Amino acid sequence: MGSEGLASRRAAYRVLRRVHTDGAWSTPAVDAAIGRLGPRDRAFAANLAYETLRWEGTLDWALGHVLSRPSIDEDVRDVLRLGAWQLAYGATPAHAAVATSVDLARAEVGAKVTGFVNGVLRALARRWDALPWPDEATSEGLGLATGYAPWIVAEARARFGGQARDVLEAGNVAPGVTLRARGDAEALAAELTAVGLTPTRGALSPSALRVPGADPGALAAVAEGRATVADEASIVVAEAAAAAAGPGGRLLDACAGPGGKACHAADLGARVVAADLHEHRARRVAELAATLGLDVPVAVADGTAPPWPPGGVDAVLLDAPCTGLGVVRRRPELRWRRTAGDPAALAATQRALLAAAADLPRAGGALVYAACTWTVAETTAVVGSFLARRPDYAAEEAAVAAGTALPDGPGRLLRPDRDGTDGMYLVVLRRS
Ligand SMILES: C[S@@+](CC[C@H](N)C(=O)[O-])C[C@H]1O[C@@H](n2cnc3c(N)ncnc32)[C@H](O)[C@@H]1O
Repeated sequence: MGSEGLASRRAAYRVLRRVHTDGAWSTPAVDAAIGRLGPRDRAFAANLAYETLRWEGTLDWALGHVLSRPSIDEDVRDVLRLGAWQLAYGATPAHAAVATSVDLARAEVGAKVTGFVNGVLRALARRWDALPWPDEATSEGLGLATGYAPWIVAEARARFGGQARDVLEAGNVAPGVTLRARGDAEALAAELTAVGLTPTRGALSPSALRVPGADPGALAAVAEGRATVADEASIVVAEAAAAAAGPGGRLLDACAGPGGKACHAADLGARVVAADLHEHRARRVAELAATLGLDVPVAVADGTAPPWPPGGVDAVLLDAPCTGLGVVRRRPELRWRRTAGDPAALAATQRALLAAAADLPRAGGALVYAACTWTVAETTAVVGSFLARRPDYAAEEAAVAAGTALPDGPGRLLRPDRDGTDGMYLVVLRRS
């Protein structure tokens, strides 16, 4: 069968099943599912899986309008979602999208559901344009048009106003590969060019290289530890943390797992101690540091009750647990896993982490707060309430040049729509 045949659709189906039944993240599930396919089938299957996960809310809403019975088995629902995405957004002709979905249903679920799948998808193809799509001025309408839950649209409007749609749509663009050069970035760029790639220097950091189409796992520089894979927003955070600690300064990375920023800061000369609440996350930091030949002591510790003495470090990096709405480009399913109460719930943890970390830097030291999200609650609101309680701290706005300043509080936001990076909030808080 051709590149858009049954094998690639079965692979995409397996990804959806693992994401929905095992709670798997899509990227490892895709990597596992497409391994045996040829290159074109791999690309088709990966795109079909990621896109179907991204547009799940819209697909379910539309399917809800044509399904004759409200409850259907989840495995059949995943077949229908894949078919519906192809009908609504894919390049496959409608008759082929329906026929291959019927084949998929037969292969994965059984012959008994083929008639049902055929009927539902034919009805959907006929009725898609005439469905009662809500006005895009409403959160539900813009959510259906951009592939997000209404609460995320409301959060985006609260944060970005009239630019909310730009940010939401940028979150639907698959991110390219960015590498962090651990040595001379110019030499790394030449090495990558020599193997047929077209690297360009990042706009925000001298060590970032954007490398479209690269397979990091196949690059000698990555295998040999001369480069790591890192989004440019994360690169900027690690640089800010190392700078805040000062040359050779002591930096505690209190939420360090899996360790990309801790190792980057160590590369920049900071004396880093890394900690994470979760043992398996702490272990990943230790493994990464060992792979990169870095001396980074790692502890398992709760940042809300830190076991370190006050005043013992030059800076603390709090790369806080958050809703992750800034990384939906690489984790499309995240938008359906998070719920409307999560920003407030995570903000409570973030406030506790900031409060507990505040005594750790020496006088004149710094707290660097970062979160890969953009909700008001987890960014300016958390930091605003911290500053109100700790008059010995002030935001050091000049410490971060990248990104966009915010109208409602300190810090800057790196934006997928403007910077081509993950969404990332970053602020340096200097202790007097
Ligand atoms: C955004 S991730 C950090 C990413 C990391 N800085 C990097 O660049 O690889 C947040 C981390 O905080 C950890 N975490 C969550 N709650 C924590 C707590 N109370 N104390 C310490 N770490 C915590 C999570 O296990 C997770 O690894």
